[in-house]
This record gives sequence, structure tokens and C-alpha cells, in this order.
Amino acid sequence: MVLLKLHSAFWAATGSSICLSISILIGPSIAAPPLVQGRSGIVTSAHPDATQVGLEILKQGGNAVDAAVATAMAISVVEPFSAGIGGGGFLLLRVGETNQIVALDFRERAPLKANSRLYLDEKGKVIPRASIDGHRAVAVPGTVAGLQSVHQKYGRLSWQTLLEPAIQLAEEGFVVSDRTARIITLRQEALAANPAARRIFLPTGQPLAVGSRLVQKDLANTLRLLAQDPQAFYSGSVALAIARDMQKNEGLVSLLDLKTYTPTWRDPLCGEFRQMQVCSMPPPSSGGVHLIQILNLLALGQPFPATSDHPDYLHALVEAMKIAYADRAEYLGDADFVEVPVQELTSHQYAQRRFQEINPSQARPAERVKAMDTQTLKQLQNESNDTSHLNVVDRDRNAVSLTFTLNLGFGAGVVVPGTGIVLNNEMDDFATAPGVPNAFGLVGNSQNAIAPGKKPLSSMSPTIVSEAGQLRLIVGAAGGSTIITTVLQLMMNVLVFEQDVATAIQAPKVHHQWRPLPLRIEERVQFPKATVANLQQRGHQIQMRSQWGNANLIEVTPKDELLGAADPRGEGAALGY
Ligand code: GLY
Repeated sequence: MVLLKLHSAFWAATGSSICLSISILIGPSIAAPPLVQGRSGIVTSAHPDATQVGLEILKQGGNAVDAAVATAMAISVVEPFSAGIGGGGFLLLRVGETNQIVALDFRERAPLKANSRLYLDEKGKVIPRASIDGHRAVAVPGTVAGLQSVHQKYGRLSWQTLLEPAIQLAEEGFVVSDRTARIITLRQEALAANPAARRIFLPTGQPLAVGSRLVQKDLANTLRLLAQDPQAFYSGSVALAIARDMQKNEGLVSLLDLKTYTPTWRDPLCGEFRQMQVCSMPPPSSGGVHLIQILNLLALGQPFPATSDHPDYLHALVEAMKIAYADRAEYLGDADFVEVPVQELTSHQYAQRRFQEINPSQARPAERVKAMDTQTLKQLQNESNDTSHLNVVDRDRNAVSLTFTLNLGFGAGVVVPGTGIVLNNEMDDFATAPGVPNAFGLVGNSQNAIAPGKKPLSSMSPTIVSEAGQLRLIVGAAGGSTIITTVLQLMMNVLVFEQDVATAIQAPKVHHQWRPLPLRIEERVQFPKATVANLQQRGHQIQMRSQWGNANLIEVTPKDELLGAADPRGEGAALGY
């Protein structure tokens, strides 16, 4: 039974009647994951084998960067559908020695031959699935360059040592889980259309069976080459194999694209929330901007209700999400190519203006939520820069938060013959035409239009939170457009509602992204019925969805203890020592 308190006028506007009706609690159908403890180190990832790899690297004397590189390489093998060397991503690193947080952008880039009409027919209509399946959907991968770059600068163990576990997993194979078999089945059509992919994932013409062993000899050989020379991916034999396959199949990624790819070090985007510093990824991810934007909006409604399933909180959260995603569609894009008003959107002045639009008792139809007009947005003064912040962190507490991807399951469904590399379909994260939704239902305009060398807008949100100079929370998630709202809700669950990380990650979530219109609520992990009914009464158009997202997170307690958990919605694991 959840006990509710009285709150400020804003939160209490419609909350008091809920206190009585919230007593019906329905048991969760997804169990909480183990709460894993550590003192010396902890690794969380989406796959137990990859987590084990990271832990072993730490135990061998590797630092957080070494463990992150080895874990990411292992994920490339054991989650060939989710992320890997054929894709790209972002990472945030907190350097224990200097207390500095740095961000690395190794997002995929549009090929130099790409243009804004790439996926349109002669009448200007979007060609269905053209940006999703096959070679034309592939953007220039950045993962190998990104991992090499962070390792060169901050790693301790040798690069070869870090790739060895992934090589072994590819060479000796691993057991195909329910999840892997299910995802192969989901993408069966695209995989079957590509001979190299078919051979690996549908060897008998059918998806690999649960419990069978997935051995990837070609991938093991590619990883061996990359262990000797990571640049083989960009200018050596691997690059040649990719470019040749592209040329044969009307793909656009060329040798020149690969040769000229470099990752970009960026300043992380940081905001303040309840005296905590929240740092996440700046554009070309939209993650940092909208995390900070929504936190700023929520902070104006403080104090918060006592629990994360309180309808007053969920209502305000959803209304803030609509605002943020409306702005995302209007303003966000690759800031190296278009102007993105990051400072304005993440300013407190902006939040104050927008907060007034939130009616505490009534949902605003998403059709009526607009991006803030450019004129007003420009008038907002930037936040003052004359601020300093002090951190005092344990010098051993390096932290990495890394999110990387192939975009949709198995990316473009293309495997480069002889290499085992699954290629991304990140081109679908561009707005292929203004207002036309991508695979996640996200819309955009010319800000996120395709241009040669431009990066598609992402929602990936690797995030590091510090409090009084101490590392506090390291969090990130998979799940396309839901990543931002998942990370946000996990942060709120731990930092505001004081849940332990296992409880926080198991808790049900809501998601609204402005377009499409309905408010999504997780069904498999249920909110109290009265909460859902209350949201309905406020006018929210609700769509129950079974579940979404796949997150993992680590909390650093005030006693400097490490606590980790991985999402029970996936098959991930946390391990500490
Ligand atoms: N491909 C999903 C994202 O970057 O947001």
C-alpha cells in the first residue's frame, strides 16, 4: 500500500482524491532484477556474457575505459542485432583523476553521396522501407574509431587484450537465447534477403533455434584484424570489403567515406537538478537537451509527491514530455550542420515559460502542443556562464556511460560478405521528408534532413549524475525514441523517489513523444489501476503497451558503495566485485 502525502499546490491540484483510491495495487508481472553490489568495480550491460567480459578486464587491472571497450566489443558478438562494429554511438566518461567529464561522439555519418531526396520517389513521396532495409539504408559506421579513440587517450591495458574476449566469443560461439531467436524471427525477411546474413542467422532457412550455438568465424577473423590494426576498418582490408559490397548493391558508403570518418570529442551537456549535476550527450543526440529540459520543467513543480506512481507526478511528466518532443521535431539536428538552440532549450527561463502551459488537472491534446516559436526562443537570454562548480571524487572512480546502436534490430539486415559485420540502418534516424515519421514514429524537418556527412539525430542518452562532487548515478538505455524518457524516469526513481536501482529499473514507465498522439503506459509492469484511471480522467489518450526499453544503471552511494542493476525487460546483467 502506497502512502501519499500532501504536496504543493501544483502537485496536489488533483491528487488528494487519489490518496484513497490508490489502495488497489496489482502485483508486477516482471520481477525486479538482482541488486548487485561492488566496492572495487561494477559493470552493467545488456548481456551477461558481455558483462562478465567487462568484469574480468577490471579484475585484470583494466580501468573503466578498458572494461567499456571490451564489453562493447563483446556486445558486438553476443548481441549482433542491437549494436556493434557496424554501427555507432556515444559515450560519456568521468575521469576520476581530474573530475572531468568528456563526451565522445562516434555516431554514424551520412555517406558523402547522400542527399535530402535519397529516399523519395520522383513525385517526392517517401519510398517505403528504403531507409530501413538493405545497403542504401547504411550510414558510415563509427564504433571502431570511437572505441579506438577513447582507448588511445584513456585506456590502460593493450587494445589487443581488450578484443581477445570478443574474438573468443565469436570463435567458440554462445548459446542463442529466447530474445535473440525472437529478434531473428522479427527481422527474418530482411535477413533472408541478404545471402551473408542468411548464412549466419538462418543457416537452415529458419531462424536459429533457442539453445543452439551461434558461432561467427568471419566475425572472429575481422576482430583479429582489428585487434592488430583498428584502422583496417577504415582504410585496410575490412574497409575494402565494405566498399566493394556497397558498390555491388547500390549502397552509398564508399572507401572515401570510411577513410575520412573520425569520431568527435565534445563537451557534455550538463544541467543542474536539485543541486545535482546531470551530464548527458549534446547534439547530434537529442538526449541531453530533452533530459535537462524535462528535469527543469519538473523541478518547477516541487516538492514532488512521495511515490513515482502518483498520478500528479505522471501527469506533469507526460505534459513535459509532449513539450520536449514537440521542440525536438522543430529544432533538433546535427549542430555541426544546422543551428540548434541548445542553450535556450535547456535554460531555466525557457522552463519557466513552458511550465505555465501545463495544466495540473487536464491533459493538453498533443495537437495543441507546439514547439516554442523561434522569436520567443531567441529572446530568452542564455544562462549566465559565470558559474563554477566544485567536485570531489574518489580518484579511482572513473566512470563510462556508453550507448551505441545499429538502429533497428540487425540494422539494415546486411552482413558484409566474409566479415561477419552487421551494418546499421541509421539513415532512418534522419527525417526522410518533413513531418514523415521514422520507424520510431518520430518526425522532424529540415533541421534533421539528410546531407552529405551529416549525422542523423539520435535519442541515445548516456548520462552521468554527480552530487557535491561525488559520482552519483551512471545510466543509459536502449529503446529508440523512448530512451530519453526511460533514462529520465530511472533518474527520478532513484534521485527523487529514493528507490534502489533494482526497484527503479523494474518500475513501470510512461512515454509520450508528442507524435504519435497517445500516451503509452507499460502493461506488463503495471501501475495501480486507479493511477491509470486517474490519468484517463484528466484527458490522457492512453495506449497500453506491453513493455519497452532495456536500461542498466549504477548508483554510487554516499558511502562510496556501488550498486548496479540491469533491466528485467532484457537479458542484461550487473556484476560487481
Ligand atoms: N537509432 C536510435 C537513436 O539513435 O536514437
